[in-house]
Amino acid sequence: MRLLIAGWQGQVARALVEAAPACPDVTACAVGRAALDICEARSIERALSGINPTVVINSAAYTAVDKAETDEERAFALNRDGARLLAEAAARRGIPIIHLSTDYVFDGRKYDPYVEDDVTAPLTVFGRSKLEGEEAVRAANPKHIVLRTSWIFSPGGRNFVKTMLAQAAEQQRVRVVDDQRGSPTYAPHLVTVILELARRLSKPEAKGPWGVYHAANSGTTTWRQFAEEVFRRSRELGGPVAAVDPIASKDYPTPAPRLMNSQLDCTKLERTFRMRLPAWEDGVADCVQRLVKG
Ligand SMILES: NC(=O)c1ccc[n+]([C@@H]2O[C@H](COP(=O)([O-])OP(=O)(O)OC[C@H]3O[C@@H](n4cnc5c(N)ncnc54)[C@H](OP(=O)(O)O)[C@@H]3O)[C@@H](O)[C@H]2O)c1
Repeated sequence: MRLLIAGWQGQVARALVEAAPACPDVTACAVGRAALDICEARSIERALSGINPTVVINSAAYTAVDKAETDEERAFALNRDGARLLAEAAARRGIPIIHLSTDYVFDGRKYDPYVEDDVTAPLTVFGRSKLEGEEAVRAANPKHIVLRTSWIFSPGGRNFVKTMLAQAAEQQRVRVVDDQRGSPTYAPHLVTVILELARRLSKPEAKGPWGVYHAANSGTTTWRQFAEEVFRRSRELGGPVAAVDPIASKDYPTPAPRLMNSQLDCTKLERTFRMRLPAWEDGVADCVQRLVKG
């Protein structure tokens, strides 16, 4: 199986590249923007011809949620139009695409975890661009899996766990929002699902089931509890620790509003493919271990 991974510096792409060598018969080609710019049709054609993949994974995205509010054109160019171009090019060659999407397609006003069929109603430019990207991928390539995930963290790239540890190295207390609930997702756990999906769907006779799936670590939490778990693990390892002061979302204003509820119900993934991600706390344990102990 040959994977073409767009978005090579990203958290998900890095985790894919790290995990792929352990999978038998998998060659993972992650390419940066210079070799594969998903906004450029010719660049996509060159990459597809050169690598000749059996599955395309789109982890390239405009992910600066706040910046997108004033950079709408660029967010849509990448998250909608680039996603469409890549999905169309894969479809012309009969290649399935696994496309990463986000909890931000919802408005966060539901009380319970979101299921795939819940009404989408993004609150932000970023969320709208990702939702239109999902729709573009579905329309362009019948062989698609759209994987919505949330609150990604990993030892590589910028994320909440690294920010908490960096702040704790400099200050004794941190203020963390405590009224948003979500499903933290450890990139190395997420990519085991992506690689297994790719393996099953790369078979020429694979008939899907194609569609939209939620994929997040099991369990849900708030950012405050997430921070406390990071520090609990860090303390055990002699790493940086800070006291956590809970605050409300209104005391941490951001240009793009955050979802009060980002919880993703992953039952469909489990029922359809018999795949379930571990508890998010297991991801924190591994991530902190790698960050503190190196
Ligand atoms: N991070 C999260 O918490 C989170 C949560 C839910 C869903 N997701 C989704 O998961 C996916 C991966 O997220 P991530 O956190 O791994 O993203 P990320 O770390 O922000 O990486 C995105 C990658 O896209 C690349 N890129 C930008 N423009 C490109 C272009 N024109 N052509 C090709 N590549 C381009 C970037 O390259 P440069 O470095 O060169 O700009 C970067 O390597 C995204 O679809 C995102 O929406 C993420």
